[in-house]
Amino acid sequence: MPIHSSCCKKSHDLAKYLASKPADILKECPAYTAFGRCPQGVKCRAGSCHTLPDGKQLVNEELASKDIVTQTNFLSNDIRKALRAKKYDFSRSDEQRKLLDAKKNNYGGDDSGLNEMSAENKRFDPETRPVKKKPIDFIGKTYLAPLTTVGNMPFRRICKEYGVDITCSEMAMAGNILKGTNGEWALLRRHVSEDIFGVQICGNNFEQLVNTSELINNECNVDFIDLNVGCPIDSVYEKGCGSGMFKTPNKMYGIINAMNNVTDFPMTVKYRTGISIKQPIAIKVTQKLDEMGIQLGIVHGRSRQQRYSKLADWDYIKQVKESSKHMQIFGNGDVFSWEDYWEKMEETKVDGIMIGRGALIKPWIFEEIKERKVWDITSNERLELLKKFCNYGLEHWGSDDIGVNHTRRYLLEWQSFLCRYVPVGLLEVLPAKMNQRPPAYYGRNELETLMASTNVADWIKISEMMLGPTPDDFVFIPKHKSNSYEG
Ligand SMILES: Cc1cc2nc3c(=O)[nH]c(=O)nc-3n(C[C@H](O)[C@H](O)[C@H](O)COP(=O)(O)O)c2cc1C
Repeated sequence: MPIHSSCCKKSHDLAKYLASKPADILKECPAYTAFGRCPQGVKCRAGSCHTLPDGKQLVNEELASKDIVTQTNFLSNDIRKALRAKKYDFSRSDEQRKLLDAKKNNYGGDDSGLNEMSAENKRFDPETRPVKKKPIDFIGKTYLAPLTTVGNMPFRRICKEYGVDITCSEMAMAGNILKGTNGEWALLRRHVSEDIFGVQICGNNFEQLVNTSELINNECNVDFIDLNVGCPIDSVYEKGCGSGMFKTPNKMYGIINAMNNVTDFPMTVKYRTGISIKQPIAIKVTQKLDEMGIQLGIVHGRSRQQRYSKLADWDYIKQVKESSKHMQIFGNGDVFSWEDYWEKMEETKVDGIMIGRGALIKPWIFEEIKERKVWDITSNERLELLKKFCNYGLEHWGSDDIGVNHTRRYLLEWQSFLCRYVPVGLLEVLPAKMNQRPPAYYGRNELETLMASTNVADWIKISEMMLGPTPDDFVFIPKHKSNSYEG
């Protein structure tokens, strides 16, 4: 059907559009440089290098013909349609559901039977495990924590360049993945540099979590699925998701067991010490997961109640590690220096350590850990890092106005953590600790001082060095309370 020109409110005068377009923010377009063509065309905010005066687009045929693919895990239209029409084949999940219902009937129709399931599904009895899994070599590897909003792909690429071994997607809601929601599927994308990569899912019921696991198993390129049993946020907890799964442990075990049975790759579970600080339950949970054949448990050494208050309890993490016969255990909480990392590895004998805020505040921590040395990074080197993030962001979110806006917002979210970094050259005592609030200080030059500012207006100023001026109506409120040293 022809579109009536009077219906469209957009300008159709290309010459006028090009003449009124604001100045480019970069000389080189990241997509054109990487792939030989820019999908944003005339709208690209670094478009001068591939746009002729008449608007025609240049293509670097040699590069474009290579069809370089740097990201995987896109949702195809066929799968989306099948999901929306509820026609996707979830036969493995259905089978698990039937097994579970049979167990429930045997045990009087409640979830208590699920408790017994794990014991019956003996880990080393090949007859009871429908899928023979090839384990991943996690031991001794550094792991970048899943980080909602800030653990996006451009940030993970930066951490990969600093040598992190394992990366994980931001938490994705299982229910939305099953609905084929674009935003949730975008969280599952994997960059080619992520050589050990998993996706983290969150949900509260069998269908959501087991079907989603089967779907990801069939349609995605991942090495493992991680179940979130740690998220403390009230709205998540109250629905029985995240750390809310601890409220009904038997139901949780049944779901995890079934997730493990419908996937061909290892499953991992990330959990806290318990719901309340007074009643840690992670040791018991670890023993159950161990019996089920879960390959890796990641224990954040705090209870749900604690959020980020008080330090993570690494003595307890050590006990969790000691309680596990086969399941590998990674510890998580407050690691902020290479000294911290190796000390905790040595003292607790965990199989590895996951790092969250330490990587957000100083992503080069992974290099420091591997080389066992402190890096007194300069403000110019940090600025180069931000430029790199922006390039990766424009490649990922697009280099038109919308992509620039997304890149800026994610950069600002990240800056809310980056500003907590205190250059080691200014510290009197090393190593720095995660929970020490530094007094306001002057850097060794203006840029270093600006980078330490906790004022959003200063973060915006820094973003403008890479992404040009912000629109007049631009407002930014950080999503995470990263400045709170308790939260
Ligand atoms: C901004 C932010 C986002 C987070 N998002 C997630 C998430 O999506 N999934 C998850 O399991 N944990 C999430 N966490 C918790 C971290 O993965 C990690 O367990 C916690 O920060 C403790 O580790 P750390 O002391 O090294 O930061 C998040 C933490 C922060 C600070």
